[in-house]
Amino acid sequence: MSLLVRASLLVLLGAVAVGIYWNYDGFDPESVRGATVVITGCSTGIGEEMAYQYARLGAKILITARRENRLKEVVAKAKSLGAQEAHYVAGDMGKAEDCERTIQTAKEKFGRLDYLVLNHLGSRFKSTEDVFIDMRRGKSWDQDPDMDFFVDFLNINLVSYVRLASLALTLLKESSGHIVVIGSIGGKVPSPNLSFYSSVKFGLDGFFSSLRVELMKAQQDVSVTLAVLGFIATPTFSNHLKTEPDGDKVLENFAPIDETALAVIRGGATRAREIYYPFYTWPFSKLRALMPELLTFD
Ligand SMILES: NC(=O)c1ccc[n+]([C@@H]2O[C@H](COP(=O)([O-])OP(=O)(O)OC[C@H]3O[C@@H](n4cnc5c(N)ncnc54)[C@H](OP(=O)(O)O)[C@@H]3O)[C@@H](O)[C@H]2O)c1
Repeated sequence: MSLLVRASLLVLLGAVAVGIYWNYDGFDPESVRGATVVITGCSTGIGEEMAYQYARLGAKILITARRENRLKEVVAKAKSLGAQEAHYVAGDMGKAEDCERTIQTAKEKFGRLDYLVLNHLGSRFKSTEDVFIDMRRGKSWDQDPDMDFFVDFLNINLVSYVRLASLALTLLKESSGHIVVIGSIGGKVPSPNLSFYSSVKFGLDGFFSSLRVELMKAQQDVSVTLAVLGFIATPTFSNHLKTEPDGDKVLENFAPIDETALAVIRGGATRAREIYYPFYTWPFSKLRALMPELLTFD
Protein backbone atom coordinates (compact mmCIF):
# COMPACT_ATOMS: atom_id res chain seq x y z
CA MET A 1 0.00 0.00 0.00
CA SER A 2 1.45 3.33 -1.01
CA LEU A 3 2.07 6.07 1.53
CA LEU A 4 -0.59 8.24 -0.10
CA VAL A 5 -3.26 5.53 0.20
CA ARG A 6 -2.31 4.91 3.87
CA ALA A 7 -2.45 8.62 4.66
CA SER A 8 -5.84 8.94 2.93
CA LEU A 9 -7.18 5.95 4.90
CA LEU A 10 -5.95 7.49 8.15
CA VAL A 11 -7.65 10.81 7.35
CA LEU A 12 -10.87 8.95 6.48
CA LEU A 13 -10.78 6.94 9.71
CA GLY A 14 -10.11 10.13 11.67
CA ALA A 15 -13.08 11.83 10.01
CA VAL A 16 -15.35 8.85 10.82
CA ALA A 17 -14.15 8.87 14.46
CA VAL A 18 -14.80 12.63 14.77
CA GLY A 19 -18.25 12.12 13.16
CA ILE A 20 -19.16 9.35 15.61
CA TYR A 21 -17.90 11.38 18.58
CA TRP A 22 -19.85 14.43 17.38
CA ASN A 23 -23.11 12.53 16.96
CA TYR A 24 -22.92 10.28 20.01
CA ASP A 25 -24.80 11.87 22.88
CA GLY A 26 -25.48 8.75 24.97
CA PHE A 27 -29.25 9.31 24.77
CA ASP A 28 -31.29 6.54 26.40
CA PRO A 29 -34.97 6.83 25.36
CA GLU A 30 -35.92 4.80 28.47
CA SER A 31 -34.68 7.68 30.66
CA VAL A 32 -37.70 9.72 29.49
CA ARG A 33 -40.33 7.00 30.11
CA GLY A 34 -42.51 8.09 33.03
CA ALA A 35 -40.68 11.42 33.37
CA THR A 36 -42.85 14.43 34.24
CA VAL A 37 -42.59 17.25 31.72
CA VAL A 38 -44.03 20.77 31.51
CA ILE A 39 -43.82 22.23 27.98
CA THR A 40 -44.96 25.76 27.12
CA GLY A 41 -46.34 26.94 23.78
CA CYS A 42 -47.87 23.63 22.66
CA SER A 43 -50.93 24.63 20.65
CA THR A 44 -48.84 24.59 17.47
CA GLY A 45 -45.28 24.57 16.13
CA ILE A 46 -42.23 23.11 17.84
CA GLY A 47 -44.00 22.90 21.21
CA GLU A 48 -46.82 20.78 19.78
CA GLU A 49 -44.28 18.50 18.11
CA MET A 50 -42.26 18.16 21.33
CA ALA A 51 -45.47 17.14 23.12
CA TYR A 52 -45.90 14.29 20.59
CA GLN A 53 -42.25 13.22 20.79
CA TYR A 54 -42.33 13.14 24.62
CA ALA A 55 -45.62 11.21 24.34
CA ARG A 56 -44.04 8.59 22.04
CA LEU A 57 -41.28 8.17 24.65
CA GLY A 58 -43.91 7.45 27.33
CA ALA A 59 -43.54 10.65 29.37
CA LYS A 60 -46.19 12.36 31.51
CA ILE A 61 -46.79 15.77 30.04
CA LEU A 62 -48.48 19.02 31.00
CA ILE A 63 -48.76 21.49 28.15
CA THR A 64 -49.67 25.18 28.02
CA ALA A 65 -50.74 27.86 25.52
CA ARG A 66 -53.67 30.28 25.28
CA ARG A 67 -55.93 28.37 22.83
CA GLU A 68 -57.79 25.79 24.89
CA ASN A 69 -59.47 24.08 21.91
CA ARG A 70 -56.06 23.34 20.35
CA LEU A 71 -54.62 22.13 23.68
CA LYS A 72 -57.48 19.64 24.04
CA GLU A 73 -56.68 18.23 20.58
CA VAL A 74 -52.95 18.01 21.35
CA VAL A 75 -53.63 16.25 24.68
CA ALA A 76 -55.89 13.71 22.94
CA LYS A 77 -53.29 12.97 20.26
CA ALA A 78 -50.48 12.77 22.85
CA LYS A 79 -52.47 10.14 24.79
CA SER A 80 -53.03 8.14 21.61
CA LEU A 81 -49.29 8.25 20.89
CA GLY A 82 -48.37 6.78 24.29
CA ALA A 83 -48.16 9.56 26.87
CA GLN A 84 -48.58 8.00 30.32
CA GLU A 85 -50.49 11.13 31.30
CA ALA A 86 -51.38 14.31 29.38
CA HIS A 87 -52.86 17.47 30.89
CA TYR A 88 -53.14 21.08 29.84
CA VAL A 89 -53.30 24.54 31.39
CA ALA A 90 -54.84 27.18 29.14
CA GLY A 91 -53.19 30.46 30.05
CA ASP A 92 -51.21 33.51 29.04
CA MET A 93 -47.58 33.20 30.10
CA GLY A 94 -47.37 36.99 30.06
CA LYS A 95 -49.47 36.90 33.25
CA ALA A 96 -47.75 35.99 36.54
CA GLU A 97 -50.85 34.21 37.86
CA ASP A 98 -51.02 31.90 34.81
CA CYS A 99 -47.32 30.97 35.23
CA GLU A 100 -48.02 30.19 38.90
CA ARG A 101 -51.09 28.11 37.96
CA THR A 102 -49.01 26.12 35.47
CA ILE A 103 -46.33 25.04 37.96
CA GLN A 104 -48.89 24.52 40.74
CA THR A 105 -50.92 22.23 38.45
CA ALA A 106 -47.78 20.21 37.61
CA LYS A 107 -47.17 19.79 41.35
CA GLU A 108 -50.76 18.67 41.98
CA LYS A 109 -50.97 16.30 38.97
CA PHE A 110 -47.48 14.74 39.14
CA GLY A 111 -46.13 15.43 42.64
CA ARG A 112 -42.73 16.03 41.02
CA LEU A 113 -41.20 17.73 38.00
CA ASP A 114 -38.35 16.33 35.90
CA TYR A 115 -38.37 18.69 32.88
CA LEU A 116 -39.36 22.29 32.36
CA VAL A 117 -39.28 23.01 28.61
CA LEU A 118 -39.59 26.76 27.90
CA ASN A 119 -40.65 27.22 24.31
CA HIS A 120 -43.57 29.66 23.83
CA LEU A 121 -43.26 32.67 21.57
CA GLY A 122 -45.88 35.36 21.30
CA SER A 123 -47.06 38.92 21.58
CA ARG A 124 -50.36 40.64 22.27
CA PHE A 125 -49.68 42.91 19.29
CA LYS A 126 -48.29 40.70 16.51
CA SER A 127 -48.55 37.06 15.43
CA THR A 128 -45.42 34.98 14.72
CA GLU A 129 -46.47 35.12 11.06
CA ASP A 130 -46.52 38.95 11.08
CA VAL A 131 -43.07 39.04 12.71
CA PHE A 132 -41.79 36.70 9.99
CA ILE A 133 -43.38 38.80 7.21
CA ASP A 134 -41.82 42.01 8.61
CA MET A 135 -38.42 40.29 8.72
CA ARG A 136 -38.72 39.05 5.11
CA ARG A 137 -39.69 42.56 4.00
CA GLY A 138 -36.70 44.00 5.82
CA LYS A 139 -38.68 46.19 8.24
CA SER A 140 -36.20 47.81 10.61
CA TRP A 141 -36.85 48.90 14.21
CA ASP A 142 -36.53 52.62 13.40
CA GLN A 143 -39.40 52.36 10.88
CA ASP A 144 -41.76 51.47 13.74
CA PRO A 145 -40.18 51.86 17.21
CA ASP A 146 -43.20 50.58 19.11
CA MET A 147 -42.31 50.50 22.80
CA ASP A 148 -45.62 48.95 23.94
CA PHE A 149 -44.90 46.02 21.63
CA PHE A 150 -41.27 45.79 22.86
CA VAL A 151 -42.18 45.72 26.57
CA ASP A 152 -44.91 43.14 25.95
CA PHE A 153 -42.58 41.01 23.81
CA LEU A 154 -39.90 41.00 26.52
CA ASN A 155 -42.47 40.19 29.20
CA ILE A 156 -43.94 37.19 27.37
CA ASN A 157 -40.76 35.75 25.90
CA LEU A 158 -38.06 36.59 28.45
CA VAL A 159 -39.54 37.60 31.83
CA SER A 160 -42.05 34.71 31.84
CA TYR A 161 -39.26 32.18 31.10
CA VAL A 162 -37.38 33.46 34.17
CA ARG A 163 -40.59 33.45 36.22
CA LEU A 164 -41.54 29.87 35.29
CA ALA A 165 -38.01 28.60 35.99
CA SER A 166 -37.95 30.39 39.35
CA LEU A 167 -41.32 28.89 40.33
CA ALA A 168 -40.20 25.40 39.27
CA LEU A 169 -36.72 25.38 40.81
CA THR A 170 -37.69 23.80 44.14
CA LEU A 171 -39.38 20.88 42.35
CA LEU A 172 -36.50 20.56 39.86
CA LYS A 173 -33.90 20.46 42.66
CA GLU A 174 -35.82 17.64 44.37
CA SER A 175 -35.78 15.56 41.16
CA SER A 176 -32.29 16.52 39.86
CA GLY A 177 -34.29 17.82 36.94
CA HIS A 178 -33.76 19.65 33.70
CA ILE A 179 -34.52 23.12 32.36
CA VAL A 180 -34.64 23.27 28.56
CA VAL A 181 -34.72 26.74 27.00
CA ILE A 182 -35.59 27.20 23.33
CA GLY A 183 -33.19 29.79 22.02
CA SER A 184 -32.26 30.74 18.49
CA ILE A 185 -29.38 31.57 16.21
CA GLY A 186 -30.84 35.08 16.63
CA GLY A 187 -29.68 34.86 20.25
CA LYS A 188 -26.09 34.18 19.23
CA VAL A 189 -25.77 36.41 16.16
CA PRO A 190 -27.42 39.88 16.04
CA SER A 191 -30.36 39.86 13.63
CA PRO A 192 -31.22 43.04 11.72
CA ASN A 193 -35.01 43.46 11.26
CA LEU A 194 -35.51 41.22 14.30
CA SER A 195 -33.83 43.38 16.95
CA PHE A 196 -36.62 42.77 19.51
CA TYR A 197 -36.36 39.00 18.94
CA SER A 198 -32.56 39.08 19.29
CA SER A 199 -32.97 41.06 22.54
CA VAL A 200 -35.08 38.25 23.99
CA LYS A 201 -32.93 35.37 22.78
CA PHE A 202 -29.59 36.99 23.83
CA GLY A 203 -31.27 37.74 27.17
CA LEU A 204 -32.30 34.10 27.63
CA ASP A 205 -28.72 32.96 26.93
CA GLY A 206 -27.38 35.52 29.43
CA PHE A 207 -29.80 34.59 32.21
CA PHE A 208 -29.89 30.82 31.82
CA SER A 209 -26.15 30.40 31.17
CA SER A 210 -25.50 32.35 34.39
CA LEU A 211 -28.11 30.32 36.27
CA ARG A 212 -26.43 27.10 35.08
CA VAL A 213 -23.14 28.18 36.68
CA GLU A 214 -24.86 29.35 39.88
CA LEU A 215 -26.57 25.97 40.25
CA MET A 216 -23.30 24.13 39.62
CA LYS A 217 -21.49 26.26 42.22
CA ALA A 218 -24.26 25.58 44.74
CA GLN A 219 -23.92 21.85 43.89
CA GLN A 220 -27.55 21.71 42.78
CA ASP A 221 -28.01 18.98 40.21
CA VAL A 222 -30.36 20.84 37.85
CA SER A 223 -29.18 20.91 34.24
CA VAL A 224 -29.82 23.88 31.95
CA THR A 225 -29.87 23.20 28.19
CA LEU A 226 -30.04 26.02 25.66
CA ALA A 227 -31.29 24.92 22.22
CA VAL A 228 -29.85 27.13 19.50
CA LEU A 229 -32.24 26.66 16.57
CA GLY A 230 -32.09 27.85 12.97
CA PHE A 231 -35.09 28.08 10.64
CA ILE A 232 -37.60 25.29 11.29
CA ALA A 233 -40.50 24.29 9.03
CA THR A 234 -43.32 24.97 11.50
CA PRO A 235 -46.92 25.05 10.21
CA THR A 236 -46.94 28.87 10.62
CA PHE A 237 -43.84 29.37 8.46
CA SER A 238 -44.71 26.61 5.96
CA ASN A 239 -48.26 27.91 5.40
CA HIS A 240 -47.03 31.45 4.94
CA LEU A 241 -44.17 30.54 2.58
CA LYS A 242 -46.51 28.51 0.38
CA THR A 243 -48.30 31.80 -0.43
CA GLU A 244 -45.08 33.43 -1.68
CA PRO A 245 -43.68 32.97 -5.22
CA ASP A 246 -40.25 31.72 -4.03
CA GLY A 247 -41.70 30.10 -0.88
CA ASP A 248 -41.18 26.42 -1.76
CA LYS A 249 -37.52 27.08 -2.55
CA VAL A 250 -36.98 28.96 0.73
CA LEU A 251 -38.75 26.18 2.64
CA GLU A 252 -36.30 23.59 1.32
CA ASN A 253 -33.68 25.14 3.59
CA PHE A 254 -35.84 24.89 6.72
CA ALA A 255 -35.23 21.95 9.08
CA PRO A 256 -37.98 19.33 9.65
CA ILE A 257 -39.98 19.99 12.79
CA ASP A 258 -40.03 16.38 14.08
CA GLU A 259 -36.23 16.03 13.90
CA THR A 260 -35.87 19.41 15.60
CA ALA A 261 -38.16 18.42 18.47
CA LEU A 262 -36.29 15.17 18.99
CA ALA A 263 -32.88 16.92 18.93
CA VAL A 264 -34.08 19.25 21.70
CA ILE A 265 -35.44 16.35 23.78
CA ARG A 266 -32.17 14.42 23.42
CA GLY A 267 -30.20 17.49 24.50
CA GLY A 268 -32.33 17.94 27.60
CA ALA A 269 -32.21 14.26 28.55
CA THR A 270 -28.40 14.08 28.22
CA ARG A 271 -27.96 17.31 30.20
CA ALA A 272 -26.18 19.02 27.30
CA ARG A 273 -25.10 22.63 27.94
CA GLU A 274 -26.22 23.69 24.48
CA ILE A 275 -27.53 21.97 21.40
CA TYR A 276 -27.30 23.40 17.89
CA TYR A 277 -29.91 22.48 15.27
CA PRO A 278 -29.62 22.40 12.32
CA PHE A 279 -25.84 22.01 12.14
CA TYR A 280 -25.13 25.45 10.57
CA THR A 281 -26.15 27.25 13.75
CA TRP A 282 -22.93 25.97 15.38
CA PRO A 283 -20.36 27.50 12.97
CA PHE A 284 -22.36 30.74 12.73
CA SER A 285 -22.44 31.06 16.53
CA LYS A 286 -18.74 30.28 16.95
CA LEU A 287 -17.69 32.56 14.10
CA ARG A 288 -19.68 35.43 15.56
CA ALA A 289 -18.04 34.85 18.98
CA LEU A 290 -14.57 34.87 17.38
CA MET A 291 -15.09 37.68 14.85
CA PRO A 292 -18.06 39.83 15.91
CA GLU A 293 -17.23 42.55 13.37
CA LEU A 294 -17.74 40.14 10.46
CA LEU A 295 -21.05 38.53 11.08
CA THR A 296 -24.71 39.41 11.37
CA PHE A 297 -27.56 37.03 10.50
CA ASP A 298 -29.38 38.77 7.68
N1 LIG B 1 -39.73 28.30 13.90
C1 LIG B 1 -38.47 28.61 13.80
O1 LIG B 1 -37.90 28.65 12.71
C2 LIG B 1 -37.66 28.93 15.03
C3 LIG B 1 -36.30 29.21 14.88
C4 LIG B 1 -35.54 29.46 15.99
C5 LIG B 1 -36.12 29.42 17.25
N2 LIG B 1 -37.45 29.16 17.37
C6 LIG B 1 -38.03 29.18 18.71
O2 LIG B 1 -38.83 28.02 18.90
C7 LIG B 1 -39.89 28.33 19.81
C8 LIG B 1 -41.22 27.88 19.19
O3 LIG B 1 -41.37 28.58 17.97
P1 LIG B 1 -42.51 28.20 16.91
O4 LIG B 1 -42.02 28.64 15.60
O5 LIG B 1 -42.94 26.79 17.14
O6 LIG B 1 -43.68 29.20 17.37
P2 LIG B 1 -45.24 29.21 16.99
O7 LIG B 1 -45.53 28.21 15.94
O8 LIG B 1 -45.61 30.62 16.76
O9 LIG B 1 -45.91 28.72 18.36
C9 LIG B 1 -45.81 29.51 19.49
C10 LIG B 1 -46.57 28.87 20.63
O10 LIG B 1 -46.51 29.77 21.77
C11 LIG B 1 -47.84 29.96 22.26
N3 LIG B 1 -47.97 31.31 22.83
C12 LIG B 1 -47.85 32.50 22.21
N4 LIG B 1 -48.05 33.50 23.07
C13 LIG B 1 -48.32 32.95 24.27
C14 LIG B 1 -48.63 33.47 25.54
N5 LIG B 1 -48.73 34.79 25.77
N6 LIG B 1 -48.85 32.62 26.57
C15 LIG B 1 -48.79 31.28 26.35
N7 LIG B 1 -48.47 30.71 25.16
C16 LIG B 1 -48.26 31.55 24.13
C17 LIG B 1 -48.74 29.78 21.03
O11 LIG B 1 -50.04 29.35 21.39
P3 LIG B 1 -51.32 30.28 21.61
O12 LIG B 1 -51.36 31.25 20.47
O13 LIG B 1 -52.45 29.30 21.60
O14 LIG B 1 -51.14 30.93 22.95
C18 LIG B 1 -48.04 28.63 20.33
O15 LIG B 1 -48.44 27.40 20.88
C19 LIG B 1 -39.80 29.82 20.08
O16 LIG B 1 -39.15 30.05 21.30
C20 LIG B 1 -38.97 30.34 18.92
O17 LIG B 1 -38.27 31.52 19.23
C21 LIG B 1 -38.24 28.92 16.29
